[in-house]
Amino acid sequence: MPLAEDFAQYATAAEAAFAGASDSATLEAARIALLGANGQEKDLTKAFAAAPGDEKRTLGPLFNAAKGRAKAAFDAAKARLAGAAEDQLIDLTLPVERPRVGSIHPISQVAAEVEEVFRSMGYGVIDGPHIEFDEFNFSRLNIPADHPARDHQDTFWLDHPAAGPGQRLLRTHTSAVQSRTYPALKPPFRRVVVGTVFRYEAVDATHDNTFHQVEGFVVDQDITVAHLVGTIRTMLAALLKRDDIEVRLRPSFFPFVEPGFEVDVRLTKAEPGSRFARWMELMGCGMIHPNVLTAGGIDPAAWQGFAFGLGLERLAMIRHGITDIRVMHGADLRSLHQFGN
Ligand code: PHE
Repeated sequence: MPLAEDFAQYATAAEAAFAGASDSATLEAARIALLGANGQEKDLTKAFAAAPGDEKRTLGPLFNAAKGRAKAAFDAAKARLAGAAEDQLIDLTLPVERPRVGSIHPISQVAAEVEEVFRSMGYGVIDGPHIEFDEFNFSRLNIPADHPARDHQDTFWLDHPAAGPGQRLLRTHTSAVQSRTYPALKPPFRRVVVGTVFRYEAVDATHDNTFHQVEGFVVDQDITVAHLVGTIRTMLAALLKRDDIEVRLRPSFFPFVEPGFEVDVRLTKAEPGSRFARWMELMGCGMIHPNVLTAGGIDPAAWQGFAFGLGLERLAMIRHGITDIRVMHGADLRSLHQFGN
């Protein structure tokens, strides 16, 4: 019975064609050739219709089986190609590209907060140049040319076309802003400086040749050390955001203050034995020396004041529990992101 063989051949050929289709265009072409309105299956349908009635009884189930195999092969191929297309769209094993969000550097963050705290206490925020004259960085701060205090703040010296060789330097402290602004200020006044300073230092975990300081100074009548201590406590409470800060003052020497102190802090809730549980030197301060006021054109008999200076890095390190200053001046964003916001 040739027609029965035609059915079987058709089914086998359809299975091969659909299974071999490697993309949707090939599959569609095979579908049209085999299952389409003018396709091979249509021809077989016509041939079957033309067969004598008694043969149809046996041919019918064979034809149905062949059509079933062709349809099943087509469905399988369609599902296979759809699956492959989906696989290409989403590969869950690929690394994710996340958008990079920047963060504010811990130093910039503390600097902005310092300015905010002092603005709230009535201070004006100012700054001066990084390249400073010897006169403002040292001489007018009661540190004459031969004073041994200069040895503590060695720096990078530059020549100046008018002032001569070795007359300019990278400022070693923000105290230079005191002496350069006094002549322009009329007491009473309060000012705060947040700025970069430079020293000839060997770099290690707690020292760098470039760092940042906060300098505050107040000139008024009847100003005492009690005002100074109150101001320092207010500042630290606002900036360190901790309730366990203990502060102590030790007599110390800075040529531009008299009396002078060093302020130490420790964190009473810090892990015992940790760096923050021990006293840490945080800042220098004192009552502004009469010679400094006089050099700035302010009469020390009529006015007094206090001044203090501290390192921003030290402050940020205590606040975030960082033990190496190089983290803050390095470019490792993995570190910086943790402390930024
Ligand atoms: N300028 C001092 C320093 O850098 C700090 C200081 C400022 C001390 C103001 C006393 C008063 O070490």
